[in-house]
Amino acid sequence: MSAWILLLLAVVALGVVALVWRMSSRRTSLPCPVWLRWLVELDNPFTKVNRAKYIVDSLGLAPGMTVLDAGCGPGRVTVPLARAVGDEGRVVALDVQAGMLARARAKVDAAGLANVTFLEARLGEGKLPREHFDRIVLVTVLGEIPDQGAALVELRDALVPAGVLAIVEVIFDPHFQRRTTVTKLATSIGLRERAFFGHRLAYVLHMEKPGSTG
Ligand SMILES: C[S@@+](CC[C@H](N)C(=O)[O-])C[C@H]1O[C@@H](n2cnc3c(N)ncnc32)[C@H](O)[C@@H]1O
Repeated sequence: MSAWILLLLAVVALGVVALVWRMSSRRTSLPCPVWLRWLVELDNPFTKVNRAKYIVDSLGLAPGMTVLDAGCGPGRVTVPLARAVGDEGRVVALDVQAGMLARARAKVDAAGLANVTFLEARLGEGKLPREHFDRIVLVTVLGEIPDQGAALVELRDALVPAGVLAIVEVIFDPHFQRRTTVTKLATSIGLRERAFFGHRLAYVLHMEKPGSTG
């Protein structure tokens, strides 16, 4: 069998696995496995909106802010978030998988940061404090959550008034969520669009909790 046919078969097999994973995630929680964390940690050269620096820069962070990295995975975005809010700020890194949190903790320790706390929790189960976070980031996580409505309600409640939830989606993720779907869901629970960066295949969407005077 030629190399080209083998390559084609591999691509088709990967596509089928991705499709089955995506469909199954609508009914049951099948988070990105810990052994695939190296893939998550790559700052994809094809989608600048998914790079940690781009996401953090978009947030308008100031020293002293409190930020939640919801579904932090191996801590790719956690570390630059913690640097941006400074010693007087705070980052909570939340994930449903202990293995992801262990990797995130190792990165935070290696960076010498003391302003990060870790929380093993499933979004939607109600472990987050109310009206606590100035910013929340949800980077390529939403599609892995079967009950997206419950998760978004918990995140909305955890934001301070006028706080911002940044949702990042990229087409290379098997769980990619379209902008229209995300906006519809977020507006249905009272969030409103504040900013959009990127395009329909890779974007950062800022949804604001009402409460600002502007
Ligand atoms: C594709 S990874 C993205 C990690 C990180 N946000 C990043 O962009 O580098 C998705 C992460 O979301 C976590 N996750 C999936 N469902 C979750 C849930 N219901 N609650 C909390 N974390 C969840 C997974 O364990 C995984 O670490």
